[in-house]
Amino acid sequence: MWILLITLGLASASLEATPQYPLWPNVFTQTFNETLYYPEFGNQTTTGTYYYDWTNQMYRIDRANGRFDRYCGLVGFRVLTNAPCSHIVVGGNRFLYYPNDGTCCFCCNAAQGCGMLKPTWLDNATFIDTEVHMGVQAYKWNKQGLQNNFYFETAVASPSSRVMLGIYQEPNDLMDFHKITYSVPSGIFDLPKTCSLKTVCPEISTCTAVRNASN
Ligand SMILES: *[C@@H]1O[C@H](CO)[C@@H](O)[C@H](O)[C@H]1NC(C)=O
Ligand SMILES: *[C@@H]1O[C@H](CO)[C@@H](O)[C@H](O)[C@H]1NC(C)=O
Ligand SMILES: *[C@@H]1O[C@H](CO)[C@@H](O)[C@H](O)[C@H]1NC(C)=O
Repeated sequence: MWILLITLGLASASLEATPQYPLWPNVFTQTFNETLYYPEFGNQTTTGTYYYDWTNQMYRIDRANGRFDRYCGLVGFRVLTNAPCSHIVVGGNRFLYYPNDGTCCFCCNAAQGCGMLKPTWLDNATFIDTEVHMGVQAYKWNKQGLQNNFYFETAVASPSSRVMLGIYQEPNDLMDFHKITYSVPSGIFDLPKTCSLKTVCPEISTCTAVRNASN
């Protein structure tokens, strides 16, 4: 009897349909809130906006406070400074921009691993389950990298009708996404005048470590 029950349990589990892989829209804007955990600082929260335009190969992430972002927060003298910060990726080049004082530096490029995510970046992700996430019925996936990267989206059959709800990069970066808009504000990717490939981020920075790692 036990064996029969176990066998049936396995059979029904394997019959649970795996949804098609997630697929990002080519163009979207979504606000988010984020919690970053560091043993020495505890949980730090901020808010931001994600602008994505695959058609024109550009994206931008604004954070109200970039201090605890692993790129924005570790750029030479800026270590541990509370300040808004943006990643702006245009033409395969990533810049870090600090709107409070207008400074900007070139961080790294696509060849160094700093390009943009493709709409299909979640192909081959492992489907975990359907569960309630932030009060919404959600598909949970894991896109394994060096660590688990959990991805949550609305549980809808058609990938193109789903909306991203969250990205949790273990062990310490949790992002929850809000309502989606299928457009980007005009001019949002215009590089501030202070951004130049000649103004490279300081020697002591995550950017430099990333550039060096690819050489
Ligand atoms: C985002 O905000 C909601 C509502 O305040 C909260 O429940 C959630 O934990 C936050 N998510 C993160 C990753 O901070
Ligand atoms: C930090 O936030 C995470 C996720 O919300 C939570 O699981 C953890 O208990 C929090 N840690 C501390 C020290 O507050
Ligand atoms: C998914 O797996 C297929 C087959 O192994 C591979 O060709 C493809 O590049 C993979 N896609 C991604 C995004 O990893």
